[in-house]
Amino acid sequence: MKKTKYLLFSAVLLASMQSVAQNPINDNPAYSIVGKDSTCQVFIYSPAENQGLHLAYFTDDERWVDVGQLCASDFGPWGSEKKMYRPFVMKANDGTWRALWSVNSRSPQFAVAYSEDLVTWRPQDYPIMKEKGITDVAAYQMDDGTFDIYLKTAKGKRYVHADRNFRTFEEDSLEAAADDILWQRDTATINGKRYEGNDFEIPAVHLDYIRSWHKALAEENRENSRKLPHNEAELQAYLKEKGTELGSGSEVTAQLHVKPQKSYRISDKLIGIFFEDISRAADGGLCAELLQNGDFEYNGEKKGWNATTAWMGVELSPSTGDKNAPARISTENGVSKNNSHFVMVGSTPIYNIGWEGIPIKRGAAYNVGLYARCVDGKKKQLTVALVDKEGLPMAQAKMKIQGTEWGEYKAQLIVTDKYKGDLGDGKDIRFAIIPKGEEKVAVDLVSLMPQDTYKGHGLRKDLAETIAELNPRFVRFPGGCMLHGQGLENIYHWKESVGPQKDRKPARNIWNYHQTRKLGFFEYFQWCEDMGAEPLPVLAAGVPCQNSQPNTDGICGQQGGIPMSEMPQYVQDVLDLVEWANGDPATSKWAKMRADAGHPASFNLKMVGIGNEDLISTDFEKRYLMICKALKEKHPEIEVIGTVGPFHYPSSDYIEGWKIAKENKQWIDAVDEHYYEKPGWFINHQDYYDNYDRKAPKVYLGEYAANGNNELDRALAEGIHLCNVERNADVVEMTSYAPLLCKNGYSNWNPDMIYFDNSEKIRLTESYKMQKMFGQHAGDTYVVSELNLSAALKRYVGTSVVKDSKTGKTWLKVVNALPRTLKLQISGLGDKVVEVKGRSAQVFEL
Ligand code: AHR
Repeated sequence: MKKTKYLLFSAVLLASMQSVAQNPINDNPAYSIVGKDSTCQVFIYSPAENQGLHLAYFTDDERWVDVGQLCASDFGPWGSEKKMYRPFVMKANDGTWRALWSVNSRSPQFAVAYSEDLVTWRPQDYPIMKEKGITDVAAYQMDDGTFDIYLKTAKGKRYVHADRNFRTFEEDSLEAAADDILWQRDTATINGKRYEGNDFEIPAVHLDYIRSWHKALAEENRENSRKLPHNEAELQAYLKEKGTELGSGSEVTAQLHVKPQKSYRISDKLIGIFFEDISRAADGGLCAELLQNGDFEYNGEKKGWNATTAWMGVELSPSTGDKNAPARISTENGVSKNNSHFVMVGSTPIYNIGWEGIPIKRGAAYNVGLYARCVDGKKKQLTVALVDKEGLPMAQAKMKIQGTEWGEYKAQLIVTDKYKGDLGDGKDIRFAIIPKGEEKVAVDLVSLMPQDTYKGHGLRKDLAETIAELNPRFVRFPGGCMLHGQGLENIYHWKESVGPQKDRKPARNIWNYHQTRKLGFFEYFQWCEDMGAEPLPVLAAGVPCQNSQPNTDGICGQQGGIPMSEMPQYVQDVLDLVEWANGDPATSKWAKMRADAGHPASFNLKMVGIGNEDLISTDFEKRYLMICKALKEKHPEIEVIGTVGPFHYPSSDYIEGWKIAKENKQWIDAVDEHYYEKPGWFINHQDYYDNYDRKAPKVYLGEYAANGNNELDRALAEGIHLCNVERNADVVEMTSYAPLLCKNGYSNWNPDMIYFDNSEKIRLTESYKMQKMFGQHAGDTYVVSELNLSAALKRYVGTSVVKDSKTGKTWLKVVNALPRTLKLQISGLGDKVVEVKGRSAQVFEL
């Protein structure tokens, strides 16, 4: 939906609210004007629990006609929740609207929403009550403007007092003495079905406004769904519809006039990367560790995961005392409180299967590391080995273990020419720990790392090099939804990811698999430095993901946020991150930790993100502002990047998020926008950033991608978008395509930029190639140019000219989504004629 349209609607609404609407929207049935004030009757209801709130109006021929959805429930996780039961809608004394509904029978929550015009709704809140299973809701406004809310639960009736803005909700300790009539609704028959709801008389012009909005939305959706023309027939059909003609031929000729005298500064860090541990991007992915569950900390009821996962010859059950019994898992005197599980090796070998195999290169060195202690105090010997499918050792080394305390042991394995077998793809290769006798050795944190990693810092070299070729100017980490987590207990706390591996806290992630945190904040920062990119850590805004599953009390979504009493410590953790990254090890405990890990110099952190596409609820807002304010006050040098929800305009989170950011721009320097859309949306929104307020906080387009089945369509749409973003790179300062990585067979999301498996056969998508073109040909100055082409054809061509002051080079990027070759006559700078094949993109130096 175009912002200009919305502003126009608002203006029309305001200007004509008092006047009489004589001309109801044409092609739908006319509505009845009731009474002298030109009002009409509307009915607000929900057609089904998963269809949200709808509005119907009463026509001249006495029928109710549905206009469409006003808002949908955003409560709890996708799939099982997002339901709306028995909505109750009321108009407040000041003309604004309130809606309430029940969400399910398991949670002690109900939903509330607020709107000024029935079109735009503020993000919802889900107040937490004492009892589960609120079955019905109703509200009444008091003379002072506040509200009395009545709830029905299985146990009785409750009473809640709400402020006039519907922001605070206080439950009374006493049961409500209310008559059932309070919860009674009006009824209406719509399309032959009888519904309960609330009816109202509203000004006719207001109904006109609502209907116009829905009509515009429908038109917009039609245009967003338009497919890119793949061939001449599709192109001609499209042009005919647009009333444009194009003669036959295989080319389109256009002129591009470059105006070097008209240029302006743009961001020099426009193309970055978004890294999230999703689709096995970290463990089993970018992290070069070859063993799986080397810490014995796996757990996950759904997947049947436990401490023995990926191990053979290890059992969970307690020892039987039999000397031939397999190794078993123990938690008595673990290596640390965060890594309590370990294996008690007995007399039989144990094997790790890696990530469905252990890819090994002949002649290459692999470092083995483990923690061990001798339970009975007697010296022991373990052999660590790589074994083939017959169990034959391919490479082996001995480790002498001594002492009853945990100690760290290291060895090196190299499969040399002495091993004559084929290494293949490593699918059948296992890592073995072989005891000498009846060992009784406690073993934990077993690791097998290739010595050859990206810049020697533990990242898989081929993957890291592929990513570095994008020439990213920054890296956002550690997510995505993974950072705000699945419920309060699962919020990613950066402190749990740094320090010695044994003290890091492994955890399930929101994508439902295990993270060792071997790729923690230290490694992320080091990775950025190795690539010459700026670190952009993003921390939760004091709330978990709004789509979180219920906790043990049945509380879903943001679960009320981190309790306010714990927020000061959480805020301190955020401040400590800056200390850890930039502080002086001589004076700062956190900076000393960085130095102890091998990086005494500052990481030169310049920006921090707060929040990840959160629901902009009241719980969120309180915590978010508290963090942003504290961070900016303590570290004015740090750019604070806020969040505006998961979708673009006109989603309620976007609108509210931007409102908060603009009102608090002394604390918030930029906001993180997210959208995943059809290629047609990008084609249809080429002016998306043209009218952004240049004085407002900047934009970080932190997650975006075109979706749909055609990979080339997606990349072309993204490329055209990037041309438009580059033109607006005075306000959009950074972008990152998402997600970056996906391990074949483990997809949590689709599409992704880079697909990989255990081998070095990495699949680069068309989107990768597009990102690389923009990343490698970036500039810091935008040079205005004018493309001479009919409007209908222009939609499918993106051009952008930028100059890089460091190299003095001027780049022209052309994205041609037309199915014909584009012949471009360039004038004004580097005059020449260039050709860009149909459905491709190219860069030229001017
Ligand atoms: O990029 C994949 C996911 O998309 C991210 O985790 C989340 O922020 C968004 O919904």
